[in-house]
Amino acid sequence: MNLLNIVILAAGKGTRMYSEKPKVLHALAGKPLVQHVLDCAVALRPQQICVVYGHGGEAVPEAMQQYPAKFVIQEPQLGTGHAVQQAMPLLADDGRTLVLYGDVPLIQHSTLHQMQQAGDGLVLLTVNLDNPAGYGRIVRNAQGDVQCIVEEKDASPEQRGIREVNTGILLAPTGKLREWLANLQNNNAQGEYYLTDIVAIAVQQGIAVHTVQPAHEWEIHGINSKAQLAVLERTWQQVEAARLLAHGVTLADPARIDVRGRLNCGRDVEIDIGCIFEGDVTLGDNVRVGAYSIIKHASIAAGTRIAPYSLIDSSEVGANCHIGPYARLRPGTKLHDGVHIGNFVEVKNSEIAANSKANHLSYIGDSTIGSRVNIGAGIITCNYDGANKHRTIIEDDVFIGSATQLVAPVKVGKGATIGAGSTITKDAPAGELTLSRSKQTIVAGWKRPTKKK
Ligand code: UD1
Ligand code: MG
Repeated sequence: MNLLNIVILAAGKGTRMYSEKPKVLHALAGKPLVQHVLDCAVALRPQQICVVYGHGGEAVPEAMQQYPAKFVIQEPQLGTGHAVQQAMPLLADDGRTLVLYGDVPLIQHSTLHQMQQAGDGLVLLTVNLDNPAGYGRIVRNAQGDVQCIVEEKDASPEQRGIREVNTGILLAPTGKLREWLANLQNNNAQGEYYLTDIVAIAVQQGIAVHTVQPAHEWEIHGINSKAQLAVLERTWQQVEAARLLAHGVTLADPARIDVRGRLNCGRDVEIDIGCIFEGDVTLGDNVRVGAYSIIKHASIAAGTRIAPYSLIDSSEVGANCHIGPYARLRPGTKLHDGVHIGNFVEVKNSEIAANSKANHLSYIGDSTIGSRVNIGAGIITCNYDGANKHRTIIEDDVFIGSATQLVAPVKVGKGATIGAGSTITKDAPAGELTLSRSKQTIVAGWKRPTKKK
């Protein structure tokens, strides 16, 4: 009885999104709606996951091909019962089947776990709403036992007054579900095969019907429009912000942070307004992130300060570094402890050892830089010859004067000094001053041009 199948319904058209893209591929917190559901499904370790798709051609299976799921098309779409029926040939009769929805992205593992614990028979996830309009109502008898679900369009005026509604999410014994689905009729207001009609059939057969309620109402909110998507995005961001605050993170404004992935913070982390975190991001103890910074797939070690408007992507930043304002760390950047990267400095695919500094207006690409190196203002590593990329190697204790170009492949030896304004095309020896400027001269008799009348 512990075997679990999961069917995810994702065939709906999403007309009200006014988009060419299938509804379930629109993103919430940076991730397609259906992917949230798939991640939750995978975490339940089911035997089988089956996604029922319809609109948008093969876009849904193609976008989700990394998941251990089977995809079945529902064409035409004749209702939720008909949709689940499409998955049945792929499911073995033993165990239970959980029905989820590709457009209900925030369902939580803990709620689904609770449903699994609720008992044998049919388990429905229901919720009490102040305004139940639009939902199927849970009809109970005088003893409080569930009798059936009635869709709003088929409900009597008294039934419409019921505030307990069907979220759509349910768990059923697979063999029974197969039998129940085969008996559905479409003689209702919408002419559809309603999944919800299995409840009355189960009751007739004397099968127990249990109900579970989610811990949070937002878990069961479905998306039908861009407006609903925007509201649920804000709701989720508030949940993330509350989680961070509860963990001791200081947020300048919990309403002005966006987490599109997993943000892990140490102690005494401070995050100013307008920051975006994407993918897996780790901030060590005492890290401070300045306003409007964007950090994705990165780890920032303890004590590092990120000044405003910095972009960090797929990089590893050591402890006690100073980054920004206006710094850009591109993929493959590894900074050791105590490194300073200042304004308008771009670093790509480079490793910079401890206590080195590049504070102003530079490009460091495909480079290996030692410790205590001083990169002056306006230095360019010329890493690309028009066809191939080459590396620049700068050893410990080097001083590079401002406005220098290092034409890779090139190496600057330990302790070397490069005079400002040099174009270095050959290796510079350790401990020496290397210059490539022409001598300063005075051009005799030269006059500045004047404007012609
Ligand atoms: C359904 C429930 C209703 C519940 C509500 C919760 C039924 C008959 N009604 O109503 O009791 O309160 O959800 O939101 O189940 N879908 C398919 N194929 C289809 C039809 C639907 O894949 O042929 C998918 C849709 O993409 C959507 C979900 O099933 O994700 C629900 O379909 P929808 O038509 O929105 O159901 P409701 O009428 O809202
Ligand atoms: Mg409908």
